[in-house]
Amino acid sequence: MTTEAVTSEPGQRPIGVAVLGHGTVGAEVVRIIRDDATDLEARIGAPLELRGVAVRTVRDDRGIPQDLLTTDAEDLITRDDVDIVVEVIGGIELPRKLVRAALDSGKSVVTANKALLAEYTGELAEAAEAKRVDLYFEAAVAGAIPVIRPLTQSLAGDKVNRVLGIVNGTTNYILSAMDETGADYAETLAEAVRLGYAEADPTADVEGFDAASKAAILASIAFHTRVTAGDVYREGISKITAADLTTARALNCTVKLLAICERITTDGRDRVSARVYPALVPREHPLAAVNGAFNAVVVEAEASGRLMFYGQGAGGSPTASAVMGDLVMAARNRVHGGRGPRESRYADLEIAPMSDIVTRYYVNLQVADRAGVLSAVAAEFAKRDVSIAAVRQEGAGEGARLVVLTHCATDKALSDTVAALDQLESVIAVTSVLRLEGSAE
Ligand code: NDP
Ligand code: HSE
Repeated sequence: MTTEAVTSEPGQRPIGVAVLGHGTVGAEVVRIIRDDATDLEARIGAPLELRGVAVRTVRDDRGIPQDLLTTDAEDLITRDDVDIVVEVIGGIELPRKLVRAALDSGKSVVTANKALLAEYTGELAEAAEAKRVDLYFEAAVAGAIPVIRPLTQSLAGDKVNRVLGIVNGTTNYILSAMDETGADYAETLAEAVRLGYAEADPTADVEGFDAASKAAILASIAFHTRVTAGDVYREGISKITAADLTTARALNCTVKLLAICERITTDGRDRVSARVYPALVPREHPLAAVNGAFNAVVVEAEASGRLMFYGQGAGGSPTASAVMGDLVMAARNRVHGGRGPRESRYADLEIAPMSDIVTRYYVNLQVADRAGVLSAVAAEFAKRDVSIAAVRQEGAGEGARLVVLTHCATDKALSDTVAALDQLESVIAVTSVLRLEGSAE
């Protein structure tokens, strides 16, 4: 029996693609478009033809024909033979201008740019809507892990209540290494830079900005509400110490930088909370086992229950996988008609302030080791109706430390308690404060 190769739809013209950027991600996208052309044509029903690759500097060591390279991205995206623009440059203002111009010219856009989307999804989605073209961005959150499409499509008929994720590989690498080796933060960060996980300037990763952008994107989709990076409460990991990891181990926990997007229902009214901070996570929680530069996202929806997505959240090849999935979808839509899901923001829920969020705290205090200190500390918790779950003393004399673990209370009550503890004469220092997530009461 002979099998006929399935190629293009009869009479189908090629789909022209412009790739903006030939760095870590762009170079892999270009490689796959060129190396897997036959399979891609069969899957799309038309050949995918690379019209050009925009770069900052034209060099001859990129392994692609020189005539494909250009430094004029604006000219490339508006060419008549370009149907789909892939934006993998990074930054905000330049890609905003380019993506907007591409959409306004009727091109579909695929982007991996979380920083751009966390600020401007609204503007860009409206531009895509006006021209009835696609705006896809699976790669913007958690690299290769399919999470945008499951939320927008597979769970479109369900009600999502919570999305909890480790969405930054650099910080997860650092925290996992601190947990495994007992090394301190600065030492582990230097190693992450040396290994290429962290950028030379790792601020966006370690201060939680990257994860906050991803949280804004996830919350917008999960709760059908426009959430921007500015709506996301954010703390980074730069104050986490080796001592925090030691205490976490003693509590049978580890520390993870979490992105938490939650539906908060009070008196029948739904609001959205989006927040990023390092938190204690019990060892038995599935996210505690996500180590190194890996990412994972747990989605809790009413009908589906808990779902977990796990894999490589960064790197050229994994990220290109997600970009290519979007590119094939956008190309299929060009060939067969139809469009991907539009921005859904009908619910338009209010953003809940951090002070209203109910959470648990771990507070580490350096205290004077004498009678009455414990009761003075406990009184500050009691005054604000914060119930203590456990207290332990570590060390003695000058080095005495009290570690207090609370039950659930509002973040305001907990932070007011910590501020009051800081003023107590018997408390030498509030050494660290971390929230505890993923545990029972
Ligand atoms: P790189 O810095 O590796 O590559 C950026 C590319 O953009 C380079 O090829 C650069 O050109 C080009 N470029 C910069 N300025 C211009 C300009 N003015 N005109 C034309 N081209 C320009 O970035 P990444 O590949 O790492 O990231 C790309 C995007 O993907 C970002 O939005 C990032 O957040 C996102 N992303 C990245 C992941 C990763 O693991 N790297 C994971 C998930 C998302 P030249 O080569 O000449 O310098
Ligand atoms: N800097 C990001 C990370 C890259 O470490 O996860 C992927 O978005």
